[in-house]
Amino acid sequence: MKAVMTSGWGLSAKLVVKETKASTRLAPNDVLVKVHAASVNPKDWKLNYHLAVLATPMMIEKVSPIFGDDLAGTVIAKGRNVTDFAIGDAVYGMDMRLRTASLAEQTRIDQRRIAKKPASLSFSEAAAMPLAALTALQGLRKGKAKTGSTVLIIGASGGVGCFAVQVAKAMGAHVTGVCSSRNSAFVLSLGADEVIDYTAGDYRQQAGQFDLVFDVTSYETPLTCSKLMAKNGYFISTGGDGKSMLGTPLYRLLGKNAATVVVESYRSDLEELAALVESGKLKPIIDSQFPLSESEQAYARSRTGRSRGKVVINIVGDK
Ligand SMILES: NC(=O)c1ccc[n+]([C@@H]2O[C@H](COP(=O)([O-])OP(=O)(O)OC[C@H]3O[C@@H](n4cnc5c(N)ncnc54)[C@H](OP(=O)(O)O)[C@@H]3O)[C@@H](O)[C@H]2O)c1
Repeated sequence: MKAVMTSGWGLSAKLVVKETKASTRLAPNDVLVKVHAASVNPKDWKLNYHLAVLATPMMIEKVSPIFGDDLAGTVIAKGRNVTDFAIGDAVYGMDMRLRTASLAEQTRIDQRRIAKKPASLSFSEAAAMPLAALTALQGLRKGKAKTGSTVLIIGASGGVGCFAVQVAKAMGAHVTGVCSSRNSAFVLSLGADEVIDYTAGDYRQQAGQFDLVFDVTSYETPLTCSKLMAKNGYFISTGGDGKSMLGTPLYRLLGKNAATVVVESYRSDLEELAALVESGKLKPIIDSQFPLSESEQAYARSRTGRSRGKVVINIVGDK
C-alpha cells in the first residue's frame, strides 16, 4: 500500500509517499480501516521537530514510520472483540499513541478510539474533526463552560478554535473570539457573539472579565491573562508552547483554576460531536485540501500558523 513516511530523519527531512506492506494483524479490539481522508494538526509536525532535535535514532524507530493522526474511512476487517462496528461501516477518529498512522491507504485502530462517521459529512469533512474537535470539547468541559458562562476563545479561527466557538455556543455560553481582523467576520459567522482583533492592541488589559479563558494558541499564561479572568474564573491552555507548558501548572500549584487540556480520543466524545453535527450545531471548517502525494505541502500549510480551520489530506476522498 501507499503510505507517507519521512525521507530521512533530521530537520531537513521531507514527507514522501512510499510503498510498504499493510499491517493486517489485528489485536482483539482493532479494526482495519480503508482510509479515505486524514487531516493535519500542529502536533504532527511538532512531534517530528522534537524527535529530530531530541531523540536518538533508536527512539525514533519506536514511533510509527507512517505519519498522520486523524482519519475517516471504511471498516474492512475487525478483531474478535469488535461487535459495535461492521465491515463497510464509515467511521472517524484518531488514536493518541504517538501516531495513528493515518496517512496511508489502510491502518489499524482500536475500536474505542473511533465512532460512526456523521452521515451528513463527507469523509474529508469528518477527517477534519477528531483531534481538534475533541480538544475543543474537552477543553471547554475542563473550564466548566455551561449555559450563561462567558467564554473567551483566543485563537478562534484555527483548527481547534473553529470547533471551540461552535461547541461553546452549543453549550449555551456567551462567546467572544480573539482573532485577527481578516478573520473577524468569519468567526462571527461561526456563531461567536463578539470578536476581538488581536492585532489592534493589547486586548488582555481591557477586554473585560470572563468565566473561562480558553487559550487555544497556547501563547498566553494565566499571568498574562490575569486581568481577563473573572473571580473563580478558569484558564485553560492547549499547552503547545513552552511558556504556557510551564506557566499553567505553576499557577495551578498556587491553587488557581488553571489547567492544560491533553486531548484523548473516546468513542463517547466522538459520538457527542457527531450528534452536534447532525443537529446542525457544528460543522467542520476546511482551510485547504491536498492529495496524499502532496502531504509535505499540507504540513507546510499547517506550519504557517495561518490556517482557517483544518488542512485535509485526501487518500481516496469520498470514493
Ligand atoms: N494539548 C493538546 O491536546 C492539543 C490538542 C490540539 C492542539 N494543541 C495545540 O494547540 C495549538 C493550536 O492548534 P490549532 O490546530 O488550532 O492550530 P492552527 O490551526 O495552526 O491555528 C492557526 C490559527 O491561529 C490563529 N492565530 C495565530 N496567532 C494568533 C494570536 N496571537 N491570537 C489569536 N489567533 C492567532 C491564526 O489566525 P491569523 O492568521 O488570523 O493570525 C490561525 O487561524 C497548537 O499549538 C497545537 O499544538 C494541543
